[in-house]
Amino acid sequence: MCGIVGYLGKENALEKIITGLETLEYRGYDSAGVAYVLNNQIKVIKREGRIQNLKEAIPWQDHPTIGIGHTRWATHGEPNEQNAHPHQYGKFTIVHNGIIENYQELKKILEENGYQMKSDTDTEVACALLDFLYQEEQNVLKTLEKARKLLKGSYAFGILCADELETLYAIRNSSPLIIATKGNEKFLASDVPAILEYTNEYYLLDDYDIAVLKKDSLTFYHDLKEITKEKQIFEGSVESSKKEGFPHFMLKEIYEQPKVVKDTIAFYFDGTKDSLYQKLPALDKYETIHIVACGSAYHTGLVARTLIEEIVGLPVTVEIASEYRYKKVFYDEKTLVIVISQSGETADTLASLRKANQDGIDTLAIVNVVGSSIAREAKKVLYIKAGCEIAVATTKAYSAQLALLSLLTLKLALIHHTIEEEEFLEIRNAIAALPEQIESLLDNPQYKKIAQQIYQREDIFYLGRKLDYSISMEGALKLKEISYINSVAYPAGELKHGTISLVEEGTPVIGIVTDSEMRDKTLSNLKETAARGSYIILICNEEEKEGNECLLIPKTHPILQSMLTIVPLQLLAYEIAKARGCDIDKPRNLAKSVTVE
Ligand code: AGP
Ligand code: GLU
Repeated sequence: MCGIVGYLGKENALEKIITGLETLEYRGYDSAGVAYVLNNQIKVIKREGRIQNLKEAIPWQDHPTIGIGHTRWATHGEPNEQNAHPHQYGKFTIVHNGIIENYQELKKILEENGYQMKSDTDTEVACALLDFLYQEEQNVLKTLEKARKLLKGSYAFGILCADELETLYAIRNSSPLIIATKGNEKFLASDVPAILEYTNEYYLLDDYDIAVLKKDSLTFYHDLKEITKEKQIFEGSVESSKKEGFPHFMLKEIYEQPKVVKDTIAFYFDGTKDSLYQKLPALDKYETIHIVACGSAYHTGLVARTLIEEIVGLPVTVEIASEYRYKKVFYDEKTLVIVISQSGETADTLASLRKANQDGIDTLAIVNVVGSSIAREAKKVLYIKAGCEIAVATTKAYSAQLALLSLLTLKLALIHHTIEEEEFLEIRNAIAALPEQIESLLDNPQYKKIAQQIYQREDIFYLGRKLDYSISMEGALKLKEISYINSVAYPAGELKHGTISLVEEGTPVIGIVTDSEMRDKTLSNLKETAARGSYIILICNEEEKEGNECLLIPKTHPILQSMLTIVPLQLLAYEIAKARGCDIDKPRNLAKSVTVE
């Protein structure tokens, strides 16, 4: 969580930092702050709330050329001005992304040595620790090296030291941090969009790397030894991190789905079986698959489980990463652990990956952000081609993950000879038609109309069976994330075991009915809710008599169906949130990339 930006160059650092923070605001937005050097002094300005509040407080006549900034997603201490970053103690001023797990222990030691904290944050303790260690070392590099051995948890720090007002320091462990250059200008940032306006060249810091940014040099150290790092080039465009006329990033990203699904599939599959054999990893030896992820990525795993179990006949377990990392796991050399993550930085997913890696199990990551921690640590990585995703609620990355999982299913089916040539050709044709089918679902006045009917309700249920249930989970998550309506997905047959007691006159129930084998069963369950007054919205492939509203979606092969079913659910959630006047791209309490446990 949280966005960090640092700048060192000839231009106005405040402008660069604020522009950078604005592109990173999706990572955290409960408070923000900057620290910069002016007249040989470090000046700190912080404000509660959005970056706009900070902008209004900044004395724009100041023209510093070095500084750091932060947009926070609070973990320790409420989001107020005092707890906002940068934090300052003695000679040090820092911005931090992550959690210092042993901050209580360190705080005690520091307090015994006369330090007194003003905020409730773990960050201030880390800052005081730097000051404490520096008193002995009198050298920032050595101080950071010593600190990293004492700090437990995750961190990316941007650091200013009062004794070196022309230098920026950066160090990381488990939280993302990049360093970018454009001529003699230097940047540090949590993520690539922050620097795209200026440059597409950057360096990725590895755990415990230290970067030292000076006017005429950029040096990297590891274990106090100077190292060289490979320059990365970001392939996407600046436009990918702009709204391009759409009122919200979420809507823009929903509309990008035909393209990202097409691009993701085209990267691995050119219509021939050979391409699947060559571009996707060998999967022959696996007898079981574990899929591990969080949130929406976990939901794509649920879809994949049904597909792989039904089409290929291989057993698949899907686990929420925060559980998997701590539970007893049964796996062996014939197990493949697949982790799925848009950001590639989700702390629990990363920890699950590390657990499997340490146990010597084969791991495969499906990731969007190139060079992210999960991508780097997995034994094999497959990138989806979704481009920058900015809205906190994921849409296009979710669909691109589904596209890749469909290809993996197809490859497994070929390996296990569970589909005939004729079905392969059918799927191939269906893949070719898919982008246009997704496109056909984007503009439909019904979404707004239905939203107007139900946006004031406080409970909405989603029902489906098998694949349709997995998609309901994602539909319900989308709605609750951005509209704050309590929306819950149930396997259609399960509602009557308790939750149906909540259904009353007018309660919206969204029924997903694309699985022809399950159709009659799900429709019966929906009728059970109708008998108790529910307002039914059906999402189905053909007109049904049941239901107050019906959203028709094209039919395709089951291996691809989910990429169509999800579109009306995303757009319904969007229209409902809009009708409720919610902040769609930056919902309350959330952040895009969850780099803490
Ligand atoms: C989805 O809309 C979410 N905001 C969230 O559930 C997300 O999918 C989850 O945090 C996992 O993120 P990742 O894909 O970056 O690992
Ligand atoms: N743990 C720190 C805090 O609560 C940093 C949180 C963040 O990553 O934004 O202030």
